[in-house]
Amino acid sequence: MCGIVGYIGKQQAWPIILKGLKRLEYRGYDSAGIAFVSSNGITSYKKAGKVSVLEEFADGKDQTGTVGIGHTRWATHGEPSDKNAHPHFSGTGRLALVHNGIIENYAVIKETLINGGHSFLSDTDTEVLVHLIEDIQQAEQCDLTEAVRLTLTQVVGAYAIVVIDKEHPNQLVAARKGSPMVIGVGDDEYIIGSDASPIIEYTKDIIYLKDEEIATITPDSIEIRTVDNEIQTPFVHRLELKLEMLEKAGYDHFMLKEIYEQPRSIRDCLRGRISPSEGTVQLGGLKDYDEKLKNANRIIIIACGTSWHAGLVGEYLIENYARIPVEVEYASEFRYRNPVVSEKDIVIAISQSGETADTMAAIELAKSKGALILGICNVVGSSITRLTDGGAYTHAGPEIGVASTKAFTAQVTVISLMAFYMAQLRETTSPTVLKELITELDSIPTLVEKCLATEEATKYIAEEIKDAVSCLFLGRGTGFPVALEGALKLKEISYIHAEGYPAAEMKHGPIALIDDELPVVVVATKTSSYKKVLSNIQEVKARKGKVIAIITEGDEKIKKEADFVIEIPDAHESYLPLLATVPLQLLSYHVALLRDCNVDQPRNLAKSVTVE
Ligand code: F6R
Repeated sequence: MCGIVGYIGKQQAWPIILKGLKRLEYRGYDSAGIAFVSSNGITSYKKAGKVSVLEEFADGKDQTGTVGIGHTRWATHGEPSDKNAHPHFSGTGRLALVHNGIIENYAVIKETLINGGHSFLSDTDTEVLVHLIEDIQQAEQCDLTEAVRLTLTQVVGAYAIVVIDKEHPNQLVAARKGSPMVIGVGDDEYIIGSDASPIIEYTKDIIYLKDEEIATITPDSIEIRTVDNEIQTPFVHRLELKLEMLEKAGYDHFMLKEIYEQPRSIRDCLRGRISPSEGTVQLGGLKDYDEKLKNANRIIIIACGTSWHAGLVGEYLIENYARIPVEVEYASEFRYRNPVVSEKDIVIAISQSGETADTMAAIELAKSKGALILGICNVVGSSITRLTDGGAYTHAGPEIGVASTKAFTAQVTVISLMAFYMAQLRETTSPTVLKELITELDSIPTLVEKCLATEEATKYIAEEIKDAVSCLFLGRGTGFPVALEGALKLKEISYIHAEGYPAAEMKHGPIALIDDELPVVVVATKTSSYKKVLSNIQEVKARKGKVIAIITEGDEKIKKEADFVIEIPDAHESYLPLLATVPLQLLSYHVALLRDCNVDQPRNLAKSVTVE
């Protein structure tokens, strides 16, 4: 949600920042801007639209300067426009600032500043922040770092900011609270990013700036202090990320690449964690909590969107194998209820980005009530990984497509491992059954490869449903979260309205929608509810609905009933979400292509939702 980049060093800042913004564009793409300092003062270009619009606009204009900041925006306050694009300037134009997050008390600050004679050029909360910094800088006669520090003591909200000052062109000041910020440490240069993607081309040594820390950076030095003015020692991490992971590798879209990466990502997620010969699971991030897990009263899973769907799969598996009651909560609802949570509860927070504001707030709430917090995250070092007591990474690698694909299957893999780990500890599932399950889990990446072979079938079916105005997705048991996820994928990238429903609930309402225009996608593989799902298909057909069924390969019975089928390999029903989701991802992808939609950057969405 908004991407920021900063550069200070010996190279020209413009190309580094521009490239960085392109890598961060998945975070927001409604406008972009860059400002850099040179002997002429601060030069800035900003435009509504994608980073490529900015690039074209600035082509042939002055781009010289070795210190600069850039921003790609996902609008919160003020519509996407040139004037609302970042960077924003202070009243005299001395300072320029980029910001990711929301300043909640901006209206009060703005009023005070207006009363003090300030006028504003944009509708953003960010402009208020940079005016306030300059106001304090003038009033206190202090340096930029101190002015930023004093400003942040007055600010309520979430921020990651980088500021430049034309009076001190050899310095950047960066700060964060609640929004991520990573600083790459190069050879007499520093590169700042909302994540590591703009950085790894130049250095693998990075500092994760912590909440309420302020960094003062020159080409050859960095000093970090807290908002309370305590000097901190920076800790430099070595990144494992490779540049190829951030590129399309010959695929037309990141989403397609990421769908095809799933056999690899699931394999990476399982590596070193299962022993099929012994029928056991090891999860290093949980082992300190074995006693708690043995005696857990209840598990509460908190997440948003696709991650919430992975949580629903977790509910089936944990209850079935570990026999612990599970509740799956939308983080955004949980945080504002007065939920009953105690020290005997275990909360599992699931998040690809590890940055989602609602999930973070829900974690803080559960923590304050004494619950143990475990995390399932993809982004290493992200904010949620630092808020949790333990957990497990998904190891899916960077997910750039805004619609989540490989992160979902990796989350489901981790929650399956957690379910088996708890079952093993609590002895609630026989070792023989666990061994069979773990052995089969080991073969899932190969079965996912086979699911990718459904792409031709999904292309054909996409032609059939591309003009639909609405689409229903049905499933039972572990097929229900698959239906929800299939519907979410279709609506977010093709803009066709889609609803996921438990198949048996169809009779209680959605059946009224069925006519010969409505595609109904049914997850109808050979599970314990097969016969019931078959009846649901017959009910849809009796009302002339168009049935697209995901079936177990070779199922002749459903082939006769459905209009279209997609065949996937047979597997234990616990693993249905890992397999059946794949053709639904491909189906959404091809429908979106046929409708000429921007698959990787769907309208209005952003990859990590760092605001409420
Ligand atoms: C859907 C999607 C979103 C995210 C949701 C939570 O394709 O990507 O629904 O799942 O915004 O994000 P994370 O998992 O980063 O907390």
